[in-house]
Amino acid sequence: MCGIVGYIGSNMAAPILINGLKKLEYRGYDSAGVAIFEDNDLKVIKSKGRLAILEEKVNKDMPKGLIGIGHTRWATHGEPNDLNSHPHISHSGKIAVVHNGIIENYIELKEFLQSEGYKFVSETDTEVVAHLIDYHYKGDIVEAVIESINEVEGSYALGVICKDCDDKFVAARKDSPLVVGLGKNENFIASDIPAILEYTRDVYILEDKEVVVLSSDNVKVFNNHGAEVKKEIFKVNWDVSAAEKSGYEHFMMKEMFEEPKVIRDTISPRIKDGSISLDNINITSEDLEKIEKIYIVACGTAYHAGVVGKYVIEKLARIPVEVDVASEFRYRDPLITNKNLVIIISQSGETLDTLFALREAKKKGARVLSIVNVVGSSISRESDDVLYTWAGPEIAVASTKAYNTQLSALYLVAMDFAMKKGHIEEGFYKKFIEDLKNIPQVIESVLANKEVIQRFASEHYNAKSIFFIGRGLDYALSMEGSLKLKEISYIHSEAYAGGELKHGTIALIEEGTLVICPMTQDNLMDKMISNIREVKARGATVLAITKESNQQVEKVADVVVTIPDVDSLIAPIAAVTPLQLFAYYMAIQKGCDVDKPRNLAKSVTVE
Ligand code: F6R
Repeated sequence: MCGIVGYIGSNMAAPILINGLKKLEYRGYDSAGVAIFEDNDLKVIKSKGRLAILEEKVNKDMPKGLIGIGHTRWATHGEPNDLNSHPHISHSGKIAVVHNGIIENYIELKEFLQSEGYKFVSETDTEVVAHLIDYHYKGDIVEAVIESINEVEGSYALGVICKDCDDKFVAARKDSPLVVGLGKNENFIASDIPAILEYTRDVYILEDKEVVVLSSDNVKVFNNHGAEVKKEIFKVNWDVSAAEKSGYEHFMMKEMFEEPKVIRDTISPRIKDGSISLDNINITSEDLEKIEKIYIVACGTAYHAGVVGKYVIEKLARIPVEVDVASEFRYRDPLITNKNLVIIISQSGETLDTLFALREAKKKGARVLSIVNVVGSSISRESDDVLYTWAGPEIAVASTKAYNTQLSALYLVAMDFAMKKGHIEEGFYKKFIEDLKNIPQVIESVLANKEVIQRFASEHYNAKSIFFIGRGLDYALSMEGSLKLKEISYIHSEAYAGGELKHGTIALIEEGTLVICPMTQDNLMDKMISNIREVKARGATVLAITKESNQQVEKVADVVVTIPDVDSLIAPIAAVTPLQLFAYYMAIQKGCDVDKPRNLAKSVTVE
């Protein structure tokens, strides 16, 4: 999704902005631009396509100014072209604006501004903001921004520079992330921490409708009524290398190799003296007695983690669980009361649909427990309880290590609830904890054998359509495997419950169709073997992913990838890795840009 960087200090702004935007490239974008305050004027340079094109343009005619804002745009209103890319300049040429989010009442505002004589040159909603600030500007830029944000509806992170201001610039946010970086004689804004991590680790996290005024040696934050707000400094504790490739060809591969470590980081601190302790989350046995149903709400990969969560919580804790796609949940007037617990899952903690689903749940009285990766993100701040997945920054657009840690967190929750509800025996509980602690080693062994999958991908990357089938937890895994493949290799694929295939989709299986079968559930092994026979009888080529001891699978599948023997209940945390590797190698074989797949964005902060 779009990225924002802003700078004020004693250095030339342009190189710092370009450098920061490079760190945000992973978010996905299709054009980029900068605006620099120079010689009492605003110099704007922008271009469609890759950041390298903008960098070349900037280097040819380097602006010398010390204040600037930069943007990478992921098109929503208007196609990606030079005109629609940010920054946008107001009618009078006085105000330059970069914006993430969507202004929902932009048509009304545009009509009003047009009636006031403002001419529009782009198709974007953002241009409205530039003109609106210009309209309200009577010599005080902070006042103009405050008046404007009180009139716009929708979501925004804004960076604003003004031709009349040689000592400050302004930013604001609502429902779209923005942090302020506090430096020494220089200050920054950024939509995401990696953009400024090279310069500072001290940040302010802005709340909705806060407006910040930055000069080189001072930062002041106001609310939307103009009253000053005291902010606490948030210290970023991960280091720069966490957001770099460190010798791997792609972030995605690096992040898969980090899975053992981040699972350990997520599980270990929560196991004390052989028992699960969920940070400061105090959901007691009495609280659990009152919970009639749990809703798990998320998007994309996080939603697929939620599907695993449903199986596991229902099986262990015997509480009914409904899993919902956030964009559907929030608009379907869900039957939520204070007798429900809502578990929100999000890597970024900023996905707009998920955030709004959280608000809907809270409005209806539910307690919200979120499983989030980014500390200080909107979702983490608005939840009643937060269980962080310590996955570190995930840069590749395709989520990998975050998923494994989301599953780890869900298993801890399920076990904790099960024990508190008295549904499991001490012996089972202890063994389960030991098995969970062993998962990182299992993944290490899967990664060490990645060549089997690489070879298979090199033989099959021309496939036009691929099916993933599985039963029980393997069905949940199939959904994630299919999504991963689609998003980075652009190969059409579908995930089906093994038993459901014969109710229609089997019509699509023909000679040579590739079918991928995660098979980690011991109690469903025979059923899956029958499903494999069904597709093989119609000419399919089958890749199965199963546990080492399931030797019978070799008799039916064409190729078998094994994972070390683990309990079926927790097998998905490890069995997803071969599916991620498969998607990765298929995409590489096809020459796709795995870290930045087309049309996709990392953190989806629009609806
Ligand atoms: C897929 C992927 C997306 C995200 C989804 C939710 O690889 O990354 O499907 O899982 O956009 O994002 P978060 O978890 O940040 O809420």
